Amino acid sequence: MSTTDTPGLVPERPKLTVIGTGYLGATHAVAMASLGYDVLGVDVDQKKIDLLTSGEVPFFEPGLPELLKKVLATGKLRFTTSFDEAAEFGDVHFICVGTPQLHGSQAANLEYVESAFTELAKRITTPALLVGKSTVPVGTATRLTEMLLEASPNPELLQLAWNPEFLREGYAVQDTLRPDRLVFGVESEWAEQMLRAAFAPILEVGTPLVVADLKTAELVKVAANSFLATKISYINAMAEVCEVTGADVNLLASALSYDDRIGGRFLKPGLGFGGGCLPKDIRAFAFRAEELGVGQAVAFLHEVDAINNRRRMRTVDLVRELAGGDLRGKRIACLGAAFKPNSDDIRDAPALDVADMLRAESADVVVYDPEAMENAKRVYPQLTYADTFSQCIKGADVVVLLTEWDQFRSADPEMMGELVVGKSIVDGRHALDADAYRAAGWVYRALGRPADPKTVRLSEDAKDQVTV
Ligand code: UGA
Repeated sequence: MSTTDTPGLVPERPKLTVIGTGYLGATHAVAMASLGYDVLGVDVDQKKIDLLTSGEVPFFEPGLPELLKKVLATGKLRFTTSFDEAAEFGDVHFICVGTPQLHGSQAANLEYVESAFTELAKRITTPALLVGKSTVPVGTATRLTEMLLEASPNPELLQLAWNPEFLREGYAVQDTLRPDRLVFGVESEWAEQMLRAAFAPILEVGTPLVVADLKTAELVKVAANSFLATKISYINAMAEVCEVTGADVNLLASALSYDDRIGGRFLKPGLGFGGGCLPKDIRAFAFRAEELGVGQAVAFLHEVDAINNRRRMRTVDLVRELAGGDLRGKRIACLGAAFKPNSDDIRDAPALDVADMLRAESADVVVYDPEAMENAKRVYPQLTYADTFSQCIKGADVVVLLTEWDQFRSADPEMMGELVVGKSIVDGRHALDADAYRAAGWVYRALGRPADPKTVRLSEDAKDQVTV
C-alpha cells in the first residue's frame, strides 16, 4: 500500500459498511443511511444484528429507534454478521468497534480493532478505504497499516484513514448528523476524496473540516476527552477547597463561567465523570504517553482521575453524615444508576459505585433509574432495586441524587417529603433547587457547598450558566 497510489475511482455516493454496532456504530450506520447512503451494518453478535434488523435498538438512545425504523423502510440500511458480505459491499468501511480498558491494566484493548481491520483486509478484492473511528492510542493506525499489508491478498487496493468521532451518548443522533467538526486523518489525496464523498451532505452545510495526518487524527480524540475530563476535575478540585473553607463551588463555577475563555460548559461540579469513554481514555492516554517516553507531559491525568474518584468517596461521606454518622441499617434511596441522564449505559457509572460503597457500609440501599435498571441488575446483582421512583424513596432515611434525570429534577419536594422517613437529601449532581427543598423542610447538601443556606446566593439568570 503506497501513500500516493490511487486505489480506484471515487464514487459520488460510496457504499458504506459500519463494523461494530454499539452506541457509535449503530448510530453512525443509521445516520448515514438517513443521509441517503447505502449502508451495511456488521457485528459478530447475532442477537444485536437480529434486533437491529427488526427495527429495535439494543440500547437506550433518544431518537435513534424512530430513525432506524424510518431508514429500514427505505431499504438503504441492512445488517449482517458476514465479513464476506461486508468486504464485497463496501467502498468505505467504518470500523466502530470498542476499545475497552484492558483487564488488569490502564492500556486500551485493541484486539477488536485489529480483528475488524484484518478480517476485512483478508477479503477485499475491489478498491476500498478502511476508516478507523474507534478511540485508539496514537500510533495504532500506522501499526494497523502494516497488519493490513500482511493480511491482504490485494494490498494495492486498500488504504487506511482515521476519522475520530465526538458524539455524546444521549445526543448521538444530532451529534452524528450535525457534528461540530469533522477530522480526516489521511495519507493520500484519494483517501481524502473518498472521505469527502462519504460525508458530502455534512460538509455541504458548512461543517468545519480538519484534514490531518493519521497520528494527529488519533490524538485529537484522546486530547479532546482528556481536556473535558480535566475541566470537570478542575471544578471538582475547587469543590474540595470550598468544602474546607466554607466557600460555595456553585457560585464559584458561575462566576468563572462568565469569562468566555473559561466558559460554563463541562464546568458542572458534583459526582464527576464516568461512562465508557472519559475514564478509560485518560488512563489509556497516560499509559501510551509513558510508553512513548513522555509520561510527564500528561502525568496530570493521573490527578484528574484521582480527583474524580475522590468525589465518589466524598458523596458517601456526606450521606453518612446526614444519616447520623453511621450507615448501618439506614435506608438510603439512590436516585440514578446510569453514568449520565438520557443513557442506559452503566460503564464506570459513579452512581452505582457510590450505591455499592454505601452497601459495603451495611446501609439498606435501594436503587432506581428510569432506563438503566436492566444493565445495573446484571452487573450489580448485589444491590436492591425499586420498580418506581416512589417505591425507591419510600421509608428512606437519606435520599441521594446520583444521576440527574429530568424525572428526579422535576420531582416535588413536598410530595417526596411525605414518602420518606428522614427529609435529608444529598444532591450529587448540583441539579436540584436547594431553596425549594429547604422550604419544604429538607436538609439539603451538595458537594462543595456550605451546609448553611444563608451563605448561598445565585441570581436567577446565573442558574443556567454552568452546564454539562
Ligand atoms: C464523551 C465526550 O463528551 C464525547 O465528545 C466523546 O465523543 C465521547 O465521550 C466518546 O469518547 O465517545 P459521553 O461519554 O457520552 O461523551 O459523556 P459526557 O457527556 O462527556 O459525560 C461524561 C461524564 O461527565 C458523565 O458522567 C457526566 O455526568 C459527567 N460530567 C459532564 C460532569 O460531571 N460535569 C460536567 O460538567 C459534564
